[in-house]
Amino acid sequence: MAIQVLPHLNAGLNAVATILLLIGFILIRGGRKDAHRAVMIAAGCVSGVFLISYVTLRFFAPIFEFQGEGPVRVFYFTLLATHVVLAIAIVPMVLMTVWRAFRGNFDGHRAVARWTWPVWMYVSVSGIAVYVMLYQIHPVQTAGL
Ligand code: HEM
Repeated sequence: MAIQVLPHLNAGLNAVATILLLIGFILIRGGRKDAHRAVMIAAGCVSGVFLISYVTLRFFAPIFEFQGEGPVRVFYFTLLATHVVLAIAIVPMVLMTVWRAFRGNFDGHRAVARWTWPVWMYVSVSGIAVYVMLYQIHPVQTAGL
């Protein structure tokens, strides 16, 4: 598989994770605990595949410089900075949320999940936004990636 495919694959994985997070939230609000559990585990697996794909991309491909000028540049780097910081923070948050659920500590699960869910959503959606701005709206005019 060509490395050029990875940014698009990553954005697709982010989109799938976002949809699963939404479905998982709706399910638990409807009291469907088993379905919530299955969908959240699926979201974790999709995000795990994303992480492997992302690290592979960063290992083999150069980091692209954003081509936009003016206010959009400030917006892009603010978005990117918040995305990166929260993407790092979300890993232990997800692990703690799932750990508490698996141990049957559902009060603790709910307490931490109230933070995990919105932060995870933000990371997924901002990841898609960064992709759209970097690769679709202001693409680098070079051969290769
Ligand atoms: C990181 C992944 C997960 C996230 C982000 C998450 C998110 C949430 C959220 C936001 C709630 C509270 C909903 C509300 O306030 O009404 C909740 C409740 C719940 N979750 Fe999860 N969840 C995750 C994984 C899991 C897993 C793996 C299980 C099962 C092993 C599970 C089982 C439950 C149950 C049983 C409740 C209801 C708790 C109660 O009302 O006492 N969750 N989850």
